[in-house]
Amino acid sequence: MEPTHNLSLEQMDRNTILHPMTALRAFAEGELGDPRIVVGGQGVRIRDAKGTELIDAFAGLYCVNIGYGRTEVADAIAEQAHKIAYYHAYTMTATEPTIRLSDRLVRMAPDGFSKVFYGLSGSDANETQVKIVWYYNNVLGRPEKKKIISRLRGYHGATVMSGSLTGLPFYHTAFDLPVRPVLHTTAPHHYWNAEPGESEADFSKRCAADLEKMILAEGPDTVAAFIAEPALGTGGLVPPPEGYWAAIQPVLKKYDVLLIADEVVCGFGRTGAMFGSDRYGIQPDLMTLAKGLTSAYVPLSAVLVGDKVWDVLAKGSDKFGAFGHGYTYTAHPLGTAAAMANLDVVEREDLAGNADRTGAYLVGRMRETFADHPLVGEVRGDGLLCAVEFVADKARKVRFDPALKVGPRLSAAVLEEGVIARAMPQSDALGFAPPLCITPAEVDEVVEKVKRGVDRVIDALAREGLAAAE
Ligand SMILES: Cc1ncc(COP(=O)(O)O)c(C=O)c1O
Repeated sequence: MEPTHNLSLEQMDRNTILHPMTALRAFAEGELGDPRIVVGGQGVRIRDAKGTELIDAFAGLYCVNIGYGRTEVADAIAEQAHKIAYYHAYTMTATEPTIRLSDRLVRMAPDGFSKVFYGLSGSDANETQVKIVWYYNNVLGRPEKKKIISRLRGYHGATVMSGSLTGLPFYHTAFDLPVRPVLHTTAPHHYWNAEPGESEADFSKRCAADLEKMILAEGPDTVAAFIAEPALGTGGLVPPPEGYWAAIQPVLKKYDVLLIADEVVCGFGRTGAMFGSDRYGIQPDLMTLAKGLTSAYVPLSAVLVGDKVWDVLAKGSDKFGAFGHGYTYTAHPLGTAAAMANLDVVEREDLAGNADRTGAYLVGRMRETFADHPLVGEVRGDGLLCAVEFVADKARKVRFDPALKVGPRLSAAVLEEGVIARAMPQSDALGFAPPLCITPAEVDEVVEKVKRGVDRVIDALAREGLAAAE
């Protein structure tokens, strides 16, 4: 149907799109200005309809790991679409790229993984994780063992169950989340949560002790699984403190609690190893994959099922009949074809290795530039995950008043300099997670532009501080 109006794309957007993470009324009524309409991209850069070019130092939503404009992935999608654009995966049906990708993923995964279930997003993959964990305990005849423990500041998605697993109140408020039976344990962020003088190793032991206390308080027979990102993502881009995973895993084993590694961000090279589990010595029972699986060229997510869980699921069909979970788009062949082409790039260009080397360079440059700044509490990172966290009082570790919106102001100023960095939720941290193909020269450009943007906000804050004192 042809439109009967002659509105600009910007106005049509305001009139019709309900944007995530956007102040709805203010945007719809034009108070926030125009939406940015992204029209092109190459490598680490995107271009908008007004001709502005930006370095995307957050790779979209840390998902465009191979960078923009990779025609070989586009070609693989087109080739598959010409052959057969869709067929489902119900009742023993498959397509060739799905079979090839599944074989590839179980070979890439840490030892002990043998099966793959596909979805379209990290959120739906974590819904699947919860259903698998519940199914597993039903097959084992343990109907009470259903609680899932996640962590404060963890992020696992935005659907009802994955949103409940998420440990950031911003995603709960006004949505009646979290739902039972989800519990949240201590966030593994040493800077904010350690006692004065507590070493990282001691703090990690305390996190494990807190987890054990929670399991005992709830009753080990009621706790089914623990879900965690190998390194905290949206909760602040926080690498695990020293000894964290070595302390946590024995507690889970002791009480027969399954470990779900949410590798949606860490997977496929982000931390400098193929999986965060490889990087930090994690032996999960289940893994969640999305984002870097296709570098977001098309949506695809996956749940990797370890042998221990698979053996029980397989028996479940004798008890309950066919596995009653799946989506129309499970194992969509355009997604699996894109994933194959994407992983070719990841492996051929050793993007995990680049994340390790260039990530160390990025974190090092950010430390040199910002660590001694009087308003910077912490510069942290691992691989190509990096955050610079700003505080009102460095000596006493006091956050800025959230009403000052320091984080969003910093990211807006950095954007004006031509760099997309993310204001991480519920903090005043600027987050960086660029495409894994970023070069040291591009890192230098990012750091220089970020410094200019940050300096402007700091100057403005100083002026406002003086004004407030007068
Ligand atoms: C660790 C983690 N898990 C799950 C999700 C949810 O993925 P999606 O937004 O694709 O639903 C995200 C999204 O950022 C994530 O960072």
